[in-house]
Amino acid sequence: MIRNGSSIDKFLNEINTKVRLSDYIGQYVNLTEKGNSYVGKCPFHNENTPSFNVNNDKSLFYCFGCKTGGNIINFTTKYKNLPFLEAVQFLSQYSGIPFKHNNKRDHSSAEEKLIIKINNESNFFFQKELFNNKYAYQYIKSRGVSEGVIKMFQLGFCPDEKLLVNYLKSKGFELEQIKKADLLIKNKKNEYFGRFSHRITFPIYNITNDLVGFGGRAVKPSKIKYINSQENLVFKKSQILFGLNQNSDYIRSNKEIFLVEGYMDVIKLFSSDIKTAVSPLGTTLSEFQLKKMWSYCDIPFICFDGDLAGRNAADKVAVKILKFLIPAKSVKFIRFPENSDPDSFMENKDKEDFMKLKFESEDLSDVIWGIIENSIESDAPEFLAGIDSKIKQMLDNIEDSRVSKEYFKFLNLKKDNFIWNSNKQKSYTLRKPIAEKVIDNINEKIFILMILIDHNYFYEYQEEIFKIKLSDKNLESEKSRILDSFSNENLKTQQSIEKYKENNPSFYFEMNELRKIHLSGLDKDQRNLLFKQIMNNLRLPLLIEERKVIQKEIIRTKENVISETLLKRYNQISQEIKDIKNKDLE
Ligand code: UTP
Ligand code: MN
Repeated sequence: MIRNGSSIDKFLNEINTKVRLSDYIGQYVNLTEKGNSYVGKCPFHNENTPSFNVNNDKSLFYCFGCKTGGNIINFTTKYKNLPFLEAVQFLSQYSGIPFKHNNKRDHSSAEEKLIIKINNESNFFFQKELFNNKYAYQYIKSRGVSEGVIKMFQLGFCPDEKLLVNYLKSKGFELEQIKKADLLIKNKKNEYFGRFSHRITFPIYNITNDLVGFGGRAVKPSKIKYINSQENLVFKKSQILFGLNQNSDYIRSNKEIFLVEGYMDVIKLFSSDIKTAVSPLGTTLSEFQLKKMWSYCDIPFICFDGDLAGRNAADKVAVKILKFLIPAKSVKFIRFPENSDPDSFMENKDKEDFMKLKFESEDLSDVIWGIIENSIESDAPEFLAGIDSKIKQMLDNIEDSRVSKEYFKFLNLKKDNFIWNSNKQKSYTLRKPIAEKVIDNINEKIFILMILIDHNYFYEYQEEIFKIKLSDKNLESEKSRILDSFSNENLKTQQSIEKYKENNPSFYFEMNELRKIHLSGLDKDQRNLLFKQIMNNLRLPLLIEERKVIQKEIIRTKENVISETLLKRYNQISQEIKDIKNKDLE
């Protein structure tokens, strides 16, 4: 892929002379000198005994455990998750050794250059033709695309192939050359047809801003709505993000990307002043595209239709992304209302409406838990017992051990919560029908609800309530806000569910529903019991975590000097855990 091999070699030689590899890697990995080399714990896999080696004489590193090895550039691409050229640029800045990315075209083959040249010439022609074809021009206007946006995205129209071929011939290209550019298709009778004839054209640029192909949309109803260039020397679908060429400045300065499905989605969002959208070309997200997005921002948003197909597509992508996760990089999912894509959504909405969807977006980790949760067929014990293996399957997809450790904790917490919810519903809602099978974080919501309804719970259990950390981030921040207000005489009295009526109607509605279903009809004692149980169950993960820490400490200390206080605390927590667990199932 890297064509300018000679300049890379030169750069590598220079940086190897100037920078000691152990000094460089030593910034990220703890290394100790051992004989001729330096050793440490490998950053690319999880290990207890160091098998990661750095050799300064050869300027190479190698891990005997996971067999990862290479030079300083390889280390940088892997450790920092950067594409090759960006890693080189990073090293150039680090070392002060200039790196001139030789004009890439000088090294690309003559044929690549030819295709790009023909594409550029055709693109110019198509753009002119759009204004000569009333019908096509009307069509694009009817989709709400302004003159300025047409220019920005260089939209065009491809007329009959004869006109195109004649035009290109007039520019000095031979028919044989034109055939190489994929603008023509050969049929069974060996006749040539225009691939994009009678279609609106969308020029497609690659990440180095070469015009590598086109998309073409039928203007009249057609069996094939879109036609794209085919894979060839320069057109590599999985390495292209449509819109990046036009939007990269906005994307860079806003550090924000929306991944949408189609050309028109990118263009419509641009028209609505959302100039940070890109699109893969009707394919699923590739590793290259994901990492490219991550080089611009830590959490790109992936947009999907709200229908079942969209949900399934989102789930698939979510699982795929697990493989490439590294610390501090993720994605979020934006779901559009049923039967709309960003393009149709923006038809009668504005930027603010779109941004609302952004704030309601779903974390990757929640989507992953959702997949597991949806696959649980019943809350009978034998199905609950299957959750662990489902969690493990997900974890197996994650290559980075640091990330998988956190996912392990997260998914298990969700599992505990889920199991508790199903138990709780059995014990408390048998008398009443429940609106939905399992409401997300129902415990946490009822917890907040009860504090809002009866402030006494706060005064009675202040300490416990402060310690509890709700797993739903929004609820957690709501909790903190409420607790803060309790210390303010003026704000205190205003804390009630009525407060949400205006600024968060859906939350208000949900709270009222929960109140009706779960609280009405309970007398004071029953309510108190319910509150205590919920609170205890929210404390459970904290207690289990604390017990683990103490357990570790006990194991670490020599047997004869186990601290009595530690032991006491350990027993106390164990008893509390046991009590809580027993009560749940009452
Ligand atoms: P969609 O069918 O969602 O198209 O396909 P769209 O963007 O909403 O199109 P409009 O709004 O009707 O114009 C999404 C993407 O899938 C690819 C294209 O890249 C399209 O933008 N696609 C779709 C094809 O390659 N071929 C097709 O026949 C359809
Ligand atoms: Mn559409």
